[in-house]
Amino acid sequence: MKKLVLILILALIGGGISLAQMMGNMPMMRHSMIRHRYVMMNGIPNEYRNLSNPIRANKENIKAGEKLYNTYCALCHGTKGYGDGPTGQTLNPSPSNIASAVCMPMAADSYLFWTIAEGGKNLSTAMPSFKGALSKEDIWKIILYVRSELSACWGERWGMWIFMIVVWILIILGAVAIFRWVTSSKIQSSESALDILKKRYAKGEISEEEFNKMKEEITERRD
Ligand code: HEC
Repeated sequence: MKKLVLILILALIGGGISLAQMMGNMPMMRHSMIRHRYVMMNGIPNEYRNLSNPIRANKENIKAGEKLYNTYCALCHGTKGYGDGPTGQTLNPSPSNIASAVCMPMAADSYLFWTIAEGGKNLSTAMPSFKGALSKEDIWKIILYVRSELSACWGERWGMWIFMIVVWILIILGAVAIFRWVTSSKIQSSESALDILKKRYAKGEISEEEFNKMKEEITERRD
């Protein structure tokens, strides 16, 4: 019986963890796998390596970034950055969920700047190259806006956290219920053992001394 409870609890914990993994990884399906593979194999081109955003994170620059984003990016990546813009739906690969892509360790400033400046030329994707249409400052302002306003990293998605906490409470309640069910059935079985003992004593099959000793054993087991 103990083994069964252990297995059930482990199964519940396993289920909880895999659910958490699933929820955490869902936006991954809308990340640019082709681009990640490219970077893992080749790295970021030299001229874009080690760049970092020189633009100050003030209201004015973020606002400017928002305007540029809505003009140049939202069509494909969606106003919230989820990769669900109206023009992007038919593309293959589809536009990334950049709200969560910017949370990846890989998505440093240099990665984002290179992606926006060069687009998908070498990757044969529909991501346009913006180095002709936008100045460097404009690209940095867009990156600033995406990072400060659109990014939806795991730790920031409080809705997910609340959901996970509810799931865990349910798992714990389930485990407690199983535990109580098992221990109560154990008490029942030791009670019936006591009944049998009483009957045997009444029939004179065992002496009083034996009866007391066995009774003690049974009650000890129950505790
Ligand atoms: C015509 C549609 C289209 C437009 C417009 C567009 N993108 Fe993209 N974008 C894509 C597609 C498709 C991908 C996935 C393939 C790839 O990485 O090249 C992508 C990928 C990206 C990625 C990589 C994300 C990841 O998962 O690593 C970033 C960052 C990005 N886009 C930012 C932008 C920004 C910022 C703009 C506006 C300046 C923009 N995109 C405009 C289609 C578009």
